[in-house]
Amino acid sequence: MRIAMIASESNPLAKTGGLADVAYSLSKALAKRGDEVVIVLPFYQAIADKGLKLEKLGGFYVQMSWRKQGAAVFEWKKGGLRFLLLQNDYYYNRESLYGYSDDGERFAFFALGALEALKVAAFKPDVIHVHDWQTGMIPCLLKNRDDPFYLGTKSVLTIHNPAFKGMIDRYFLNDFYGLSDSLFDSGAVRFEGMVSTLKSGIVFADKITTVSPTHREELLTPAFSQGLDGVLRLRERDFVGILNGIDVEEWNPRTDVYIAANYGKGKNLEDGKHVNQSDLLASFNLKWMGGPVYGLVTRLTFQKGISLAIASMRKALRNGANFVVVGSGEYELEQELEDLRREFPLTMGIYIGYNNALAHKIYAGCDFFLMPSLFEPCGISQMVAQRYGTLPIVRYTGGLSDTVHGYLDLGSKRPDGLAFRDYNEQGLDYAVSLADEVYRDQPLYYAMARTAMGLDRSWKKSAAAYGELYNSIS
Ligand code: GLC
Repeated sequence: MRIAMIASESNPLAKTGGLADVAYSLSKALAKRGDEVVIVLPFYQAIADKGLKLEKLGGFYVQMSWRKQGAAVFEWKKGGLRFLLLQNDYYYNRESLYGYSDDGERFAFFALGALEALKVAAFKPDVIHVHDWQTGMIPCLLKNRDDPFYLGTKSVLTIHNPAFKGMIDRYFLNDFYGLSDSLFDSGAVRFEGMVSTLKSGIVFADKITTVSPTHREELLTPAFSQGLDGVLRLRERDFVGILNGIDVEEWNPRTDVYIAANYGKGKNLEDGKHVNQSDLLASFNLKWMGGPVYGLVTRLTFQKGISLAIASMRKALRNGANFVVVGSGEYELEQELEDLRREFPLTMGIYIGYNNALAHKIYAGCDFFLMPSLFEPCGISQMVAQRYGTLPIVRYTGGLSDTVHGYLDLGSKRPDGLAFRDYNEQGLDYAVSLADEVYRDQPLYYAMARTAMGLDRSWKKSAAAYGELYNSIS
């Protein structure tokens, strides 16, 4: 099958979050199954900076309101995958991927341009798979323009983050997307008086997915759907939850080149963890006081429960724990973490920004990994932590519920992490106290670590589920 994966980010070229991991590792897994996969991305400055060997395939103009914007299509090949990069320096030659006042326009250009880019590449897809609000209008474009090239092409939308709706003014519909105002008037793409590109995707995609079975249920429930339950209920029969996998080649403690000692779940686990822990603490210049080492690798945003983590960790640090963080995002959260470090300069370490090597060291060298998310459609870090024998401390929400079996929890015959339910400080404090209990019983700790390491997190099963979904519509 020919699949076009159109996304605003993908490893190994452009990443701010889990979407980049999924776009890439799902594509790789599909290609391995024999599908022909093309990934279409904006040609961001960050990609240009990599100096890749690219082939220029062609170019065209996109009418954006009163302006004609030029686009060039470049191709990059990696493994069995083809990347198509849509170049326009006015929109994408900027420092960050998102966060600009004209993001609505930047991704209108991307949605329109991506569909033209596939023509330039002579890639006529059976299925176009789009992700989140940035590409949410593509199913709507496919259904409402009679483009002969896309006759028979079906579309799938995956919701990774329902918090971002892609809210744009109604005049965008006609001015930028060249679509009829009647789509707004009928309510099809209308959301709170504006156009939501995410809702448009939900309405017009042939199938809709989200990234875990539990999050699917949450999205159908008013209290947890972030406003999307109404429209999703209309599409309930075409809406599935498929759990993400992780890239088991990148995240493998047996072969990881960034960590001080490789290890597996056999006899060398204990030694491996110790060596990696010393190396991790040395990387942050920290002193070990005899307590557990907690880690956090994350986007610093309200979704991730960082404020809860800071409050709990302040207490843990007072009791002699270590805490290391790699992350960047909201300024206030960065500052709060900096404040915590000033309070505990010898035992707390923080790296603002993304640092791949340090992230790997955290997964390998910590005892516990924090993920007290407010909401979490799937979550990838908790699965990576488990694979490294580092026990995740999570809140039961979304994919965290599907991937972690909390110590002492009902149904957790073989626990592989620690968990709590209520989103408040006491909730996380409780889970941290359980972690402390487990830490003091090292045979128990390592039994849980080995269970966690034994879980199958490869993309094989999930890619097969996506494959079946594509088959069901084409
Ligand atoms: C978003 C979600 C996260 C999910 C990721 C990949 O970042 O917040 O839960 O794991 O997308 O699907």
